[in-house]
Amino acid sequence: MLKDSKFYDVIVLGAGASGLVCAAECARRGRRVVVVDHAAEPGRKVRISGGGRCNVTNRRVQAVDYVCANPHFVKSALSQYPPERFLAFMAGNRLDVQEADHGRLFCMQGAAAVVDALRETAAQSGVHWSLGEEIGEVIRTGDRFHVHCRSSMFSSSSLVVATGGPAWPQIGATDLGHRLARVFGMKVTDLRPGLVPLRASGEQLTFCRELSGISLPVRIRVQHAVLPGDIDDALLFTHRGMSGPAILDASLFGQPGRLPVLEIDFLPEVDLDNILQSASRREIRNALATVLPARLAEMLCVMHGWNGQAGNLFQKTRMAMSHQIHSFPFIPAGTEGFAKAEATLGGVDTEFISSKTMESKVIPGLYFTGEVLDVTGRLGGYNLQWAWSSGFVAGQWA
Ligand code: FDA
Repeated sequence: MLKDSKFYDVIVLGAGASGLVCAAECARRGRRVVVVDHAAEPGRKVRISGGGRCNVTNRRVQAVDYVCANPHFVKSALSQYPPERFLAFMAGNRLDVQEADHGRLFCMQGAAAVVDALRETAAQSGVHWSLGEEIGEVIRTGDRFHVHCRSSMFSSSSLVVATGGPAWPQIGATDLGHRLARVFGMKVTDLRPGLVPLRASGEQLTFCRELSGISLPVRIRVQHAVLPGDIDDALLFTHRGMSGPAILDASLFGQPGRLPVLEIDFLPEVDLDNILQSASRREIRNALATVLPARLAEMLCVMHGWNGQAGNLFQKTRMAMSHQIHSFPFIPAGTEGFAKAEATLGGVDTEFISSKTMESKVIPGLYFTGEVLDVTGRLGGYNLQWAWSSGFVAGQWA
């Protein structure tokens, strides 16, 4: 042990979603635990999650809803700590759940209440805190870890890295966990913004800019992506491209190193031919405006030169129209970056981590949980569920 260092059985780096669950579980097993974080308050990202409503989990969590180089990696943790276990935790803390579309479950008392319950549970289990603490060097000598902070030094036999990813850096998110993984000889896959608005260029940028502020329900197919189904959700045009839940979700599914190419259906479930035939005496833009936002109908007509009465359209034009409206191709020029990303794609390579315990296969006693790993969930409560599940699992072993 280094001089003047305080010894604990477990040091948890990061008082976020995953670190709080992990610390409480370790302490419940009788381990002496300290949680170290540079933020003065725990759970800052959880507090802003779901726009403050906190989409805590999802009723339909499956492995296929996670992007990870090893698609089987998440299975063990999700089965050890499925959504029902977190819902039971909420019920035990008198937190109510409200279900939205797509199985999304929100906390009715809000995100701050979730953080309070997690913090209180950890405190009652006997967790010690070192908040507002700048973390410096982290080393291992023999079978001990040593964490050097600005004002203290901690030593332990187990170290849990739960420092999340660099998405949304404005609240103190960093890549500390990835740097530590490299120091300890582990690989980190390419880090990219995920669940992020997409930028457009050229004609598509003009199109999006003109429609900025308009939102509508769409269906998105992502080229070459393995998904349980198409993405059915809302799209929002912005002055730089596209956003909204459907786009954030789709942003996860590019090919390695490439952004996803999207096919957008602006009128899912609507038979366009039927609409045009039943409004045959109307101007095309007015016929389309009965089922689409008027500005979008107008822009499509201007862009493609669709003029005249709906009933006078040639079959060829009707087919071109159907293609543009039901399979609008969107090739993003970029993303809005980590500053607008709700998740980090990539992370600590799961080849180096036991899926059953979250322990490093390289360094005994070293654990990684939550977003710091190369695991990214879809929009809708999947990322917090991964944070709870992986934190719980590490909490049984660290
Ligand atoms: P998390 O980020 O929660 O915690 C990491 C902790 O480490 C933080 O307390 C941080 O201060 C600390 N830390 C980082 N670097 C450090 C350093 N250098 N030194 C010391 N401490 C350091 N997911 C979901 O399922 N439902 C939702 O509704 C939302 N909504 C949402 C909205 C927004 C705006 C964002 C940005 C993200 C979401 N998410 C979400 C994603 C979800 O919040 C995220 O995946 C989890 O919080 C990840 O949990 P972790 O514990 O891994 O990291």
